Amino acid sequence: MCGIAGYIGERNAPEILFDMLKRLEYRGYDSAGVAYFAHGRILVSKDRGKVNDIRKNLNLGRESKLGIAHTRWATHGEPSRENSHPHSDCNSQFTIAHNGIIENYKELREGLIERKHRFLSETDTEVIPHLIEEFYSGNFESAFVKAVKKLRGSFAIVAISKSNPDMILLARKESPLIIGLGDGENFIASDTPAVLPETRRIIILDDLEYGIVKKNSVTIKDLETGDEIKKEIREIEWDIEEAEKEGYEHFMLKEIFEEPNAVRNALNGINKTEEIAGKLKNFNRIYFVACGTASYAALVAKYLLERFGIPSEAIVGSEFRYSTVNSLGSDCAVIAISQSGETADTIASVKEARKKLAYVTSVVNVVGSSLTRISDDVIYTYSGPEIAVASTKAYLGQLVSLTLLCLSLAREKGNINEQYMNEILDDLHKIPDKIRQVLDNEGEIKKLAEKLKDKKIFFYIGRRLNYPTALEGALKIKEISYVHAEAYPAGELKHGPLALLEEGVPVIAISPNDDLKEKMESNVQEARARNATIIMVGEDGDLRVPVCDPLLSPILYIVPLHLLAYYISTAKGLDPDKPRNLAKSVTVE
Ligand code: G6P
Repeated sequence: MCGIAGYIGERNAPEILFDMLKRLEYRGYDSAGVAYFAHGRILVSKDRGKVNDIRKNLNLGRESKLGIAHTRWATHGEPSRENSHPHSDCNSQFTIAHNGIIENYKELREGLIERKHRFLSETDTEVIPHLIEEFYSGNFESAFVKAVKKLRGSFAIVAISKSNPDMILLARKESPLIIGLGDGENFIASDTPAVLPETRRIIILDDLEYGIVKKNSVTIKDLETGDEIKKEIREIEWDIEEAEKEGYEHFMLKEIFEEPNAVRNALNGINKTEEIAGKLKNFNRIYFVACGTASYAALVAKYLLERFGIPSEAIVGSEFRYSTVNSLGSDCAVIAISQSGETADTIASVKEARKKLAYVTSVVNVVGSSLTRISDDVIYTYSGPEIAVASTKAYLGQLVSLTLLCLSLAREKGNINEQYMNEILDDLHKIPDKIRQVLDNEGEIKKLAEKLKDKKIFFYIGRRLNYPTALEGALKIKEISYVHAEAYPAGELKHGPLALLEEGVPVIAISPNDDLKEKMESNVQEARARNATIIMVGEDGDLRVPVCDPLLSPILYIVPLHLLAYYISTAKGLDPDKPRNLAKSVTVE
């Protein structure tokens, strides 16, 4: 994620661009910047921080009619002024902003450095203006096209040149880009909400298209052939908030539908997880620490390691910091898990652990967040910004990163055979498509939610790896539907909670096709005998999930439970994005 914007017309470009950035901030918010043409030069102002703070500190007084801007969600390089966009070439002739990931940036960068190009940032993006510079021999458009053709990966790019202050060039592959058509002015943005206050007429750029945007014209061409393409002009009827949610009713629903992508992105971290596993094998004791949803990812990781004979503990931050920490020493490794990287109890746990000389690696979504700065190593999940308070897609990112880490550690210790490891990895790569199949079943889940919406209490039961799935399913209902939900290891039901079961109480039983399936059946029978309403989650359950290796079931089986919680909340007429009394980042004790 990241948001990019462009403006060409008669009004003051930087002011308009910052207004657009503000509406793109939901796509990223760790740094922002603007580049505009004034007095024969391109001026760049950028910094780490939120759009409004940066805007306050910048001098945008100069009159300019052309510019581009960017709000960043860091991927390559931590949030800093140097890594903020826009980026320029050696002579500040070409300036660009980019959203996406350039996969071959390392080799491009090495080649450019050999040709004496000077780089100022750690970003993948900076190769683009230097490539344009390299190919330039008097024609901006042709140099831009040649440069873009060298890129592998995903991109949405806007580019300006100080020799051509009458145009903005843009190109797209797999990252969104639209053009808003004005009267004697045109706007470019990652997404429709940014341009809606200015115009409702938009052109959507498709993959492998590029464009030349002038104040009175827009030309779109095929990146491969250079042929001009006639594009449809769409009239947008959504309001701004609807557009930010890309048509989904809530951010939470949008984020649940982004779960396949969260899995794909976390899978890209495999090299890093292998590197960290190589370090972890040298420690005698491993502790996972986290809060809320992330603490359930921690618990899954503990069960995974146990599966391969490696002992570990999973403890919530608020307990770890005052208790577990007393027993730590330099033979301990702590793995801290957090979406935001800002949760106070998790951060305090890590600080205390470091005082005891423990090694710390963190599994984090927000690049450059506080937790990443106090950890020895970081594994990023790259789930993209999560806006809804209740965590969903970030949980899947955490599960995938931790699964990779645990498998690699098992291999380091010689506790998993290579063939089995490869089979699981193969299956892991199929999980995004399997999640998609669960999401396709949305209609059924919604109907079930309607039936359950007035229930006063819910039970979630699971065993082993899916006990945490039960905890996460129950937490989601509590957070956004305000009903009581209990999560229990299925075998513990008979030691107390069974007394609460009576006719019609929903018991959601997470039952993957593993060696404990029959045991699970027995526990379900105990509840059925009390006339509870049983909802099985499994390959042939009421909430159906595709076949997968039982070790990966926590990643797949939570998806219908996220959807169920969402639809129960909306069926009750609540706003799942903003649950009462809760905050997205809990930065206090
Ligand atoms: C809050 C959020 C939860 C989240 C927890 C931990 O309670 O409402 O959704 O799981 O914090 O947050 P973290 O950013 O550390 O993962």
